[in-house]
Amino acid sequence: MSDFVKIFDTTLRDGEQSPGASMTVEEKVIIARQLEMLRVDVIEAGFAAASEGDFKAVAEVSKTVKKSIVCSLARAMPNDIKAAGEAVSFAKKNRIHTFIATSPIHMEKKLKMKPPDVIDAAVTAVNLALNYTDDVEFSAEDAVRSDLDFLIQIFGEVIKAGAKTLNVPDTVGYSMPLDWGKKIKMLIEKTKNSDTVVWSTHCHNDLGMAVANSLAAVASGARQVECTVNGIGERAGNASLEEIVMGLKVRNDLFGCKTNIDTTQILKSSRLISQVTGYQVQPNKAIVGANAFAHESGIHQDGVLKHRETYEIMTPQDVGWSANRIVLGKLSGRNAFKQRLEKLGLDISSDEDLNLLFQKFKELADRKTEIFDEDIQALVSGKEKATECYRLESLVQESKTGSKPKAEVVFFHFGEKIKGFGIGNGPVDATVKAIESKVKSNSQLLLFSVNSITDGTQAQGEVTMRLSSRGRVVNGVGSDPDIVVASAKAYLNALNRLESEPRINPQQP
Ligand code: KIV
Ligand code: ZN
Repeated sequence: MSDFVKIFDTTLRDGEQSPGASMTVEEKVIIARQLEMLRVDVIEAGFAAASEGDFKAVAEVSKTVKKSIVCSLARAMPNDIKAAGEAVSFAKKNRIHTFIATSPIHMEKKLKMKPPDVIDAAVTAVNLALNYTDDVEFSAEDAVRSDLDFLIQIFGEVIKAGAKTLNVPDTVGYSMPLDWGKKIKMLIEKTKNSDTVVWSTHCHNDLGMAVANSLAAVASGARQVECTVNGIGERAGNASLEEIVMGLKVRNDLFGCKTNIDTTQILKSSRLISQVTGYQVQPNKAIVGANAFAHESGIHQDGVLKHRETYEIMTPQDVGWSANRIVLGKLSGRNAFKQRLEKLGLDISSDEDLNLLFQKFKELADRKTEIFDEDIQALVSGKEKATECYRLESLVQESKTGSKPKAEVVFFHFGEKIKGFGIGNGPVDATVKAIESKVKSNSQLLLFSVNSITDGTQAQGEVTMRLSSRGRVVNGVGSDPDIVVASAKAYLNALNRLESEPRINPQQP
């Protein structure tokens, strides 16, 4: 058996199914470029049939990415396969990933289909997909709660039809490593012609076992793992890419497997995803959390200073925590800025965009002496898009002990200048009230969080605001050295996202 494990990244598809994490076409393209630098084998760019925007995103990612395979998800339905096939047709290497649910509860309650009809639909979908590409993957959704014999039967049929990768998902995060490993082993042993395909796993994290289950699957013969950067995804998320990759690398003695990932790109990828989606990484998160390599106690510090390996099983540099993170300052010129953007994989194609970003960089450098890579990434993620309806112009805010804070916010709505006033319980409340006094969105604030992008009191604050309105949930992100300004940007960013076109979830009935 090969010792190579393919990393199938689904941040842009399953990751995007996290509440509020929907991304614009431009954001997806930026992330896809970074995933290519990370050297993932497959990028699942979206679910092309979900909406025009999703189709465009998959198509644009397909046009941009050259080294990784670009894939679109498709339900086992003719229209989905057509949309997926057309959207990935622009890619140098492409794949269609089709799926249907196979558990009794999903077949009866969601699909309202009998098992033989589910097999027919799966085989028809694989056949249709083969008209567009010879790289077809099939997933048995909710495999974890599916009958083993039925899985063996349906997998055998789709192999016969020509599927090249068979994915076994733990859709609801129910499994434990011991039984998941056994299930994968049985499937590989008992499915006819199983040695002609790549076996894959896709685990959700509802019981905190997604990474452990994925690694158990590798130990049992799976040679593709589906995962997301930072483990983002529906509910408790998906298996985290960085933990799987470093698990396989650090414990090569156990698995004897390698991946193609450039691990030094891990941290940069993690930062980009959290800045775009508003899903911030908890400090104690393995590999990419702020404390992942911090040695707090005196005993540990002493040990690490004497001999690093006393308390460290990998180096921070292995995953991209570099010692020299100060990159630019007030005196840096346009060329240095452009080169840094390129080094960060943030290719800004138009001169107009570059000039605008350089102006923002200069404004930031006037307020903050050291500009780090993370600040530059935040500038790019926060760059105003031509299609945006709302944009912040200025903010005046007054807070005094003993009286209620006030805010005056000036913003543009499709080019029209609007001024709103608000009084609130705190400066952020006053700011939101000032915006709402004019917008009247009737949205509900579900989450408000502030994170500092880098260290020190000069650091930019990164604010996430999750809004819900008319059944839609979106995350807005804003960054600025002034956290009230960052909050105003985040709120307006969320309002912009509420204006975007609604999309369907491939897994909902
Ligand atoms: O969790 C799941 O089952 C999925 C499939 C569509 C692969 O995301
Ligand atoms: Zn999933």
